[in-house]
Amino acid sequence: MTFALETPALNREIQFGPHRYRYLVRPPAEENWAELTRVLAELGADRFALVTDDGVPAGIREGVLGCLASAAPGEPILVGVAADEKAKSLDAVDHVMAEVVGHGATRQTVYVALGGGCVGNIAGLAAHLTYRGLRLVHIPTTLLHLSDAVVSLKQAVNSGVGKNHIGAFHAPVLVWGDLGFLESLPVDEIRCAMCEGAKNVLAICGDRYRWALEHLRPAGDYPVEELLAWIELCVVAKSAVMGDDPEEKYLGIVLEYGHTVGHALELRGIFRHGYAIAAGMLAEGRAAMEMGWLSPADMQAHRELIAAAAGRQLTIPDNLATDEILSVLDHDNKLGYLPRRRGFVDMVQLTGLGRPVITNGRALAQVPVETVAYAIDAELRPRGTA
Ligand SMILES: NC(=O)c1ccc[n+]([C@@H]2O[C@H](COP(=O)([O-])OP(=O)(O)OC[C@H]3O[C@@H](n4cnc5c(N)ncnc54)[C@H](O)[C@@H]3O)[C@@H](O)[C@H]2O)c1
Ligand SMILES: [Zn+2]
Repeated sequence: MTFALETPALNREIQFGPHRYRYLVRPPAEENWAELTRVLAELGADRFALVTDDGVPAGIREGVLGCLASAAPGEPILVGVAADEKAKSLDAVDHVMAEVVGHGATRQTVYVALGGGCVGNIAGLAAHLTYRGLRLVHIPTTLLHLSDAVVSLKQAVNSGVGKNHIGAFHAPVLVWGDLGFLESLPVDEIRCAMCEGAKNVLAICGDRYRWALEHLRPAGDYPVEELLAWIELCVVAKSAVMGDDPEEKYLGIVLEYGHTVGHALELRGIFRHGYAIAAGMLAEGRAAMEMGWLSPADMQAHRELIAAAAGRQLTIPDNLATDEILSVLDHDNKLGYLPRRRGFVDMVQLTGLGRPVITNGRALAQVPVETVAYAIDAELRPRGTA
């Protein structure tokens, strides 16, 4: 496969099992508004329900509202939500549905999620539940959402106990990405998204490793063509494992690489999601090396790619005990796929770049908890304290 782009835009159709949807990404340009209006009008909606948050620049929100008003006969319904993990709850979904139904939505009304992954998940679950399923359009305004979350059917919100516990699968009908919408993002958001991109290279398309190392920018300053090439790589990699596994229960579990240790670090408030899974990949890669699965050379390849994607050190503070990290793993959402083995952690493990260990048809392996502890200390403690 090649990632050289003939035109600086993406026009793809994503297919996950029986679900298909258009995935369009455009470089920044004034004429994007007219095209967005056209593709929205093709949906034949009676009106649109726009779900968004205050962090999305007002100019983007007003521009999209203008398109929605022109693309359907009814006035758009506008619902604001907060984009943070505490607010990503069933209460938020309930609030959105009450507004949308209360303003007279019908079965021909189409939800539009404008924002990052939080807004996308809240609107996605609301679309799934309203009248047992309304159509959904994603207009991502963060790179993580555009290159990762919308290339998935999962829509989930947090419970009082943990992250993404309450959810459903709901495919959008359209994803519209305008790279101009990403210009206001803090550099940390770009690098965090690139950590997921690095994950796709390490866990799925190892043959892209050289290209990836040459096209990662630790400063997070990606020109438009490179962003597009990265987004395309993520879509191609995710499609390769989700085409026959739309619910990510078999080979698709490989997308959870770095997420077992990573979620524990994120939950402890050490890193944002992208950095947390980057650190998680270092620990999980090292665990695979200790298990005799991954070669030292492939482990070194992990370190170099992850350093280039994250552009920062990924060490954990001394006052965070390794046991404290491990205790969180008892609540990992991958538990239950394999028969439970006490004293083992179920996680994605690689035998080489792009080559996961498969157990009972799933991209999961069981690793002794002491090996995981050793790997965390060896890779994530500043040198000398491991
Ligand atoms: N399969 C999936 O469904 C999936 C996959 C990955 C992540 N997620 C979820 O996505 C969420 C994280 O998403 P995210 O990283 O997009 O973050 P986010 O939605 O939390 O947004 C981060 C912040 O960026 C702001 N923002 C959005 N667009 C902006 C812009 N253009 N300029 C400046 N600021 C902007 C938002 O207001 C918010 O404050 C998590 O809840 C995660 O669980 C879901
Ligand atoms: Zn992730």
